[in-house]
Amino acid sequence: MDFDVVTAFPAMFEGPLSHSIVRRARARGLIQVRVHDLRNFSADPHHKIDDAPYGGGGGMVLAPAPIFAAVEAIRERHPEESSRTILFCPQGARYDQVQARRLAGYRRVILICGRYEGVDERVRLHLADEEISIGDYVLTGGEIPAMVLVDSLARLVPGALGDEEAARNDSFSADGLEHPHYTRPADFRGWKVPEILLSGNHQAIAAWRRARALEATARKRPDLLKAPRALSGPEARQDH
Ligand SMILES: C[S@@+](CC[C@H](N)C(=O)[O-])C[C@H]1O[C@@H](n2cnc3c(N)ncnc32)[C@H](O)[C@@H]1O
Repeated sequence: MDFDVVTAFPAMFEGPLSHSIVRRARARGLIQVRVHDLRNFSADPHHKIDDAPYGGGGGMVLAPAPIFAAVEAIRERHPEESSRTILFCPQGARYDQVQARRLAGYRRVILICGRYEGVDERVRLHLADEEISIGDYVLTGGEIPAMVLVDSLARLVPGALGDEEAARNDSFSADGLEHPHYTRPADFRGWKVPEILLSGNHQAIAAWRRARALEATARKRPDLLKAPRALSGPEARQDH
């Protein structure tokens, strides 16, 4: 799976995507992450990418031309591939594991990181396939949401994790949250690991884990037990 990130702050990506599972997935060619500096797509001699909002008000807005130029250049390089262009926006559909599984089906994902007051509306209307929010709060830019997306999708690429079975049991991957984990020592400050986990009885351990997972879901996220979560995303959007 390939990711093209369009951003005004490419240096932000150097650290977060260079460690652990994501680093290994990149090194093994399972995923590719290309970060495109939005300023390189500006026709302005000073590489300006933003402007004041029509109608007045504070802050600056990312101009449409450099964003269109960046995304169109990426699409032209890979005309044969199924790709999805995502605009990060606090008003977008809320990102979750259902969305992650859906997006993992694309060969290429193009990620547009907004900044300042936001992005010219024509990007949303005529360039992006969908808008995604990572939660009901406002960040300074779409770079951290892009990292969230790359990290969560990298885990879903076959072969990226050492233990595929572990991913199948992850929270939100089945019907709810995952069971608790313990490691050595068996007794830490008097707090003991549940006996059953030391028993070697795999059937009993699996049953214990299922019960604990259900109990954790009922206590922490009862909403996950109430109804199967519907696919929210481009299929649910009416405005394109
Ligand atoms: C300061 S925000 C703009 C907020 C905008 N004025 C509003 O009230 O909706 C700048 C950029 O950060 C990104 N961003 C901020 N919060 C986000 C969130 N919760 N999810 C996804 N992207 C977000 C978006 O790309 C957005 O264009």
